[in-house]
Amino acid sequence: MHVLHVVGARPNFMKAAPVIRALHQRSQVRQSLVHTGQHYDANMSDVFFAQLEMPAPDVNLEVGSGSHARQTAEIMTRIEPVLLETKPDVVLVYGDVNSTLAAVLVCSKLLIQVGHVEAGLRSFDATMPEEINRIVTDRLANVLFTPSVDGDENLLRENVEPGKIHRVGNVMIDSLIRLLPSAMQCPQNGLPERYALVTLHRPSNVDDPATLKNILASLLKVSEQLEVVFPVHPRTRQRIGEMGSDAKGLHLLDPLPYIEFLALQRRAKVVVTDSGGIQEETTYLGVPCLTLRSNTERPVTVTAGTNTLVGSDNKKLHSELIRILEGKGKSGTIPPLWDGHAGERIAEILCQLPVNPNESGTPNLAVV
Ligand code: UD1
Repeated sequence: MHVLHVVGARPNFMKAAPVIRALHQRSQVRQSLVHTGQHYDANMSDVFFAQLEMPAPDVNLEVGSGSHARQTAEIMTRIEPVLLETKPDVVLVYGDVNSTLAAVLVCSKLLIQVGHVEAGLRSFDATMPEEINRIVTDRLANVLFTPSVDGDENLLRENVEPGKIHRVGNVMIDSLIRLLPSAMQCPQNGLPERYALVTLHRPSNVDDPATLKNILASLLKVSEQLEVVFPVHPRTRQRIGEMGSDAKGLHLLDPLPYIEFLALQRRAKVVVTDSGGIQEETTYLGVPCLTLRSNTERPVTVTAGTNTLVGSDNKKLHSELIRILEGKGKSGTIPPLWDGHAGERIAEILCQLPVNPNESGTPNLAVV
């Protein structure tokens, strides 16, 4: 069985690594890896491959940045010949980034079966580009691997055939559990003993100068009580630069490698973020998380975990921060199946798939 993985952006890498590792144990499986090149800076990509011990990509499509339409279309155009040539039995796509959407669209028309890892998540916020990517990917994929029960419920509500849904747990937590011991060896590197860790990159938070200015002002206020360590995403760095904003008073860092960032999360008093994955990682680590969004596609981190949605409400951010500093933050519990073995469960299910379910069909190659 030939399994082809498609990855492209930073949050894909820690999800694919455990699946690749688990499939590597199966002698009947041959794997290949396509990197779309959506993220291309060494500190957004190469360093993750190295730390997660992922094989080098067999193909890099080198699409780079662009508008959503341009980036998605470019990935589609460049991946189609790769799929036609390599003829995988199944393609695995991860998460909700543009690379995920582009790959599933092409596979569907070539009648190549697709497995979606991290299926079923919904923010119910259609202004989020990732929500569009999630809905379309789940609609088209043949096998849906969900991290938590809400994922199953969302898919069933959308009339997805129950037989397609497999609750396997959280692959990202597989990577976390494997590399946490290395993270705990990381030196403090001159960073403060007590700090709030901040990440910020959602277009809704960083693209509008007034909104970004307001968030930075709020973080400066946080820094009066607790030092702020802020590894800055390239998108956000660009916006801060364009605004000529004064973020002095915050420890601004370049994006960090996986292990160093994990160490920072583990030692933080609180994490303030608009990321999806970090809401899950802090829940696993038992570190309070304040999310600068009004919704989340990962509700289990709020109901069971350590996450609190504060939206754009500065007052709520500060009152929650004070609660946490007084030791009254959420301690949370770890959701079921976030146990380090999700990749193995996915491998087991994949190995039971029929190798060529589309034998009777012909790939849809008609030129229109
Ligand atoms: C993408 C994902 C988002 C994910 C995030 C994690 C989509 C729709 N969004 O958002 O879900 O949470 O990755 O980082 O797929 N840039 C660089 N170097 C890079 C990559 C990007 O400088 O290696 C800059 C470019 O200016 C680019 C901008 O960042 O225009 C945005 O990159 P893009 O991949 O379009 O989206 P992200 O904001 O990273």
